[in-house]
Amino acid sequence: MAATSATTFSIGSNTSASIKVGLLSQSKASCVKFTSKNYPRSFSALKATNSVSCESESSFLSSESCAALKHSYITKARKHNLRSYGYVQPQASYKVAILGAAGGIGQPLALLIKMSPLVSELNLYDIANVKGVAADLSHCNTPSKVSEFTGTSELADSLKGVNVVVIPAGVPRKPGMTRDDLFNINANIVKTLVEAVADNCPDAFIHIISNPVNSTVPIAAEVLKQKGVYDPKKLFGVTTLDVVRANTFVAQMKNLKLIDVDVPVVGGHAGITILPLLTKTKPSVTFTDEEVQELTVRIQNAGTEVVEAKAGAGSATLSMAYAAARFVESSLRALDGDSDVYECCYVQSDLNDLPFFASRVKLGKNGVEALISSDLQGLTEYEQKALEALKPELKASIEKGLSFLQKQPVSA
Ligand SMILES: NC(=O)c1ccc[n+]([C@@H]2O[C@H](COP(=O)([O-])OP(=O)(O)OC[C@H]3O[C@@H](n4cnc5c(N)ncnc54)[C@H](O)[C@@H]3O)[C@@H](O)[C@H]2O)c1
Repeated sequence: MAATSATTFSIGSNTSASIKVGLLSQSKASCVKFTSKNYPRSFSALKATNSVSCESESSFLSSESCAALKHSYITKARKHNLRSYGYVQPQASYKVAILGAAGGIGQPLALLIKMSPLVSELNLYDIANVKGVAADLSHCNTPSKVSEFTGTSELADSLKGVNVVVIPAGVPRKPGMTRDDLFNINANIVKTLVEAVADNCPDAFIHIISNPVNSTVPIAAEVLKQKGVYDPKKLFGVTTLDVVRANTFVAQMKNLKLIDVDVPVVGGHAGITILPLLTKTKPSVTFTDEEVQELTVRIQNAGTEVVEAKAGAGSATLSMAYAAARFVESSLRALDGDSDVYECCYVQSDLNDLPFFASRVKLGKNGVEALISSDLQGLTEYEQKALEALKPELKASIEKGLSFLQKQPVSA
């Protein structure tokens, strides 16, 4: 399959030197392709492997030339990026809504999305305290117009004409709480908000952040089904933070450049259901059995690391906002016609017997274009066992979400 291991991110720059960097398929020897018709437009990380060849529209470069070009481009892009904090050139006009925008995740996420040149309108909705957030953010001289919507009477208006809806509304985990403890509160919040999405912007991409994602995504799917507007290609559980953490921890352990590392993370988004496929890490890197065990456990428990460090003051918010912003940016690039956008996320799936499963997907204008199955082939014994072990827990979380909705049908 084309681009089985491909992942691309772009970086923000108001440069007119139009270049886009992406990883192509293994069958194309992990090419980094530079073309002039596409260009970096956003703030998320530039991505590349250590074993690259370069392909310009007209010529192939040696790997040395490629490395030099890559280095030179990254350096220039970083300089542009620094300058671009002063002014971001609008490059597309998508409308994004954040539901739960006044929260710990919502506020930094709103700031990051405000910096995107792909966004022309940013709607901030919350049940309280969102007016000040919007006033504050609206003073940033980036292109998007910020609007605030407070309380259920303004929910519908916050969603009109929106292309991407991001939902971080809910309560975060406190010390001693499992993700499932959050279930009853957040399940109701997600249900209510997705009902409004179904009524007001049924074609939007929906990004669910509210935990437990393993259950809230099936709840959202069921709400959309009951409303007759379910498109499985456009409903996503945001698991990007697991990938971001895996990339960071692997880079630290193996002394690699952060920008180079890409670890696919599959399964779900809680405890043992989070399965980093370390042997599929790009660039190729070897781990001892002890390192695999140590990294896997750390990635699975990274949320708890933050919850405990914050000691009662919430869960991961800044890293989550960064991860969610990356997923929004990828979605916007896909909507805008970029043809090489790949992210791991939790979606309706037929890769195994679980109806929802996180895997790498190819994103396009209509949402999920393909589920990437190749990451799940050739697993080590450790990974295969971990995959089998996560299935009962993930299945139970999915069923919990579905049965919640059967007891509480959606409002007409
Ligand atoms: N997917 C992930 O990787 C990930 C990571 C961290 C946290 N989370 C989850 O994200 C959610 C938010 O976390 P946080 O730290 O921002 O919490 P927070 O309490 O700081 O913010 C939540 C916000 O949601 C708002 N809210 C509550 N009910 C609402 C409703 N019905 N409609 C609209 N807004 C509503 C609150 O007013 C608040 O502003 C939690 O469920 C948390 O567990 C997910």
